[in-house]
Amino acid sequence: MKYIKTYEYFNVDELSNLKTFKQRKDFVQSELVKTGMSTSKYPQGTARKIYPLKDNKVLKMAKNPKGIQQNLTEIEIGTDKEFSDVVSNVSKYDEKGNWLIAEKAIPMTEYKFEELLGYQADGFFYWLRFSDGELGKFYNKQTFALKIKKMIEKYDLDRFDVAQITSWGYIGNRVVLIDYGLTKHIARKYYKVDY
Ligand SMILES: Nc1ncnc2c1ncn2[C@@H]1O[C@H](COP(=O)(O)OP(=O)(O)OP(=O)(O)O)[C@@H](O)[C@H]1O
Ligand SMILES: [Mg+2]
Repeated sequence: MKYIKTYEYFNVDELSNLKTFKQRKDFVQSELVKTGMSTSKYPQGTARKIYPLKDNKVLKMAKNPKGIQQNLTEIEIGTDKEFSDVVSNVSKYDEKGNWLIAEKAIPMTEYKFEELLGYQADGFFYWLRFSDGELGKFYNKQTFALKIKKMIEKYDLDRFDVAQITSWGYIGNRVVLIDYGLTKHIARKYYKVDY
């Protein structure tokens, strides 16, 4: 039997030999079909398409240049040991940013956020956006919150993208960012934001 067995079900490095998003998408879907997985309804955003892999991982495949740029940022941050406890870590990737493999997280809810961190997502997000003086007295003492702020500064991330519940997930008791690829530079270039 010619089936290539690797820990992801298939040989992800094959993806780097394919030229277009359509070719990569067709390849992954046909490989997932062989494993008996459904090929419909995988999550996607405006820039990436996400496929579940085994061992609680996901494949994030860039659909367009915006996706490539965001994958490249996530590859950098997702392999930075300083932030490995607060993001879904990247374990394997394409040098050009066409795809990456990251830890799979469960999408975050307001309820779960508060349960795991002890404060409300809303207040935390407001503080990330506006560094409010009053809120600052509280959040400037929170290790987790300070670490996220440090990450935003180190990588010049768009704090408005980070400050949204849909950018977050959890893995066991860890609260993690799952969508952390949007730098201010990418936001200005591809999403026409002007701040
Ligand atoms: N690590 C992960 N674990 C589980 N699900 C994920 C993970 N990363 C992304 N997803 C799912 O895939 C969706 C799209 O991913 P993501 O938001 O990173 O892509 P995007 O192209 O940046 O999307 P958008 O344009 O909406 O910001 C997420 O809403 C989430 O449901
Ligand atoms: Mg995004």
